[in-house]
Amino acid sequence: MIIGVPKEIKTLENRVALVPVGAELLTQNNHEVYIEKNAGLGSGFTDEDYIAAGATILDTPKEIFAKAEMIMKVKEPLPQEYGLIRENQILFTYFHFAASRELTDGILKSKATAIAYETVESSDGSLPLLIPMSEVAGRMSIQEGARCLEKIHGGIGMLLGGVPGTEPATVVILGGGIVGVNAAKMAAGLGAQVYLLDLNLRRLRYLDDVMPKNVRTLMSNPENIRKCIQQADLVVGAVLIPGAKAPHLITRNMLSLMKPGSVIVDVAVDQGGCVETIHPTTHDNPTYEIDGVIHYGVANMPGAVPKTSTVALTNATLRYALDIANYGFPGCLKANPELIKGVNMINGKVTYKGVAEAFDLTYHAVNDLLS
Ligand SMILES: NC(=O)c1ccc[n+]([C@@H]2O[C@H](COP(=O)([O-])OP(=O)(O)OC[C@H]3O[C@@H](n4cnc5c(N)ncnc54)[C@H](O)[C@@H]3O)[C@@H](O)[C@H]2O)c1
Repeated sequence: MIIGVPKEIKTLENRVALVPVGAELLTQNNHEVYIEKNAGLGSGFTDEDYIAAGATILDTPKEIFAKAEMIMKVKEPLPQEYGLIRENQILFTYFHFAASRELTDGILKSKATAIAYETVESSDGSLPLLIPMSEVAGRMSIQEGARCLEKIHGGIGMLLGGVPGTEPATVVILGGGIVGVNAAKMAAGLGAQVYLLDLNLRRLRYLDDVMPKNVRTLMSNPENIRKCIQQADLVVGAVLIPGAKAPHLITRNMLSLMKPGSVIVDVAVDQGGCVETIHPTTHDNPTYEIDGVIHYGVANMPGAVPKTSTVALTNATLRYALDIANYGFPGCLKANPELIKGVNMINGKVTYKGVAEAFDLTYHAVNDLLS
């Protein structure tokens, strides 16, 4: 198979979808790998590293999209890329379709096969290609939240862990999955008082067992959320309903319950956000304020730490990319059934229920389209 890796063009996105050792493994399996010039630089990989691994460097995204049977990216294609995508080309990247009608329409129109990292699903229901970036974003949410709490950044002016003789900050985390747990560990490690809320009682029992003493678990319901956000200095949004839009757990009206100078880092912004007033922001202008509450809505948080994120991401994606390349599409779905749920679109048709529901589009089962 011919695999193409364009340079990411989202604002300040420095990750790359393939590291040199990934190119080496693909070429060893008799695939051709084309990398856009300087695509790996932001993550510390030079064109020479890729050439040594057997890849070929091309100057422009146009050449990459024109040549490749499979495009590997990190973030969703942007409007300026839609016109480059070809019918039946495989796009293997993060999409988060349910959060964007424009993206959904753009990729449907291209008639490409869209395999979304975020919905590839293991038999136990876990999302193996979301996990590494959720680990990074969860840990980063506390780092970023702590910075926003500083007075010079518009925050309440509080150190997350306090010092002896002072109160630590209160951190409320909505969702106790991968993002939530990683956020809780970091916040607890810094000495904050942490409340971790989830709907899943089994998950809460587990978290109660493994989390340190300064993390208290609570059932996620409107009453507990209202109580928690009144005390919160920092709220982290970390809920996920796979493939669907996030529920608004903090509505516009509820903002007035929060303290002036408190901070919301809504990591779930890529699925529409679990805070009604959140909208996507970028690393160069990450925050805005509503009703005195600082909102942080960067949708590609791991992009700020590309050296960590690229390696963490490609550690997880490479196995699946090899299966797609080795078995082709749809053969890869039989060889690796975890990829089936990853298929969000085939030839202009939506094949993921959450995406169809988000925009009232017709849903087609993957098997129906392929049989
Ligand atoms: N902004 C970024 O850069 C970035 C990076 C990585 C992940 N994310 C996003 O972060 C979000 C969380 O990802 P994750 O990997 O932790 O997902 P996850 O599936 O591991 O965890 C989600 C948790 O939310 C819980 N949940 C669902 N509805 C809830 C509710 N009403 N109240 C409380 N909890 C609820 C689930 O029970 C689950 O435990 C996703 O939207 C993901 O796309 C964003």
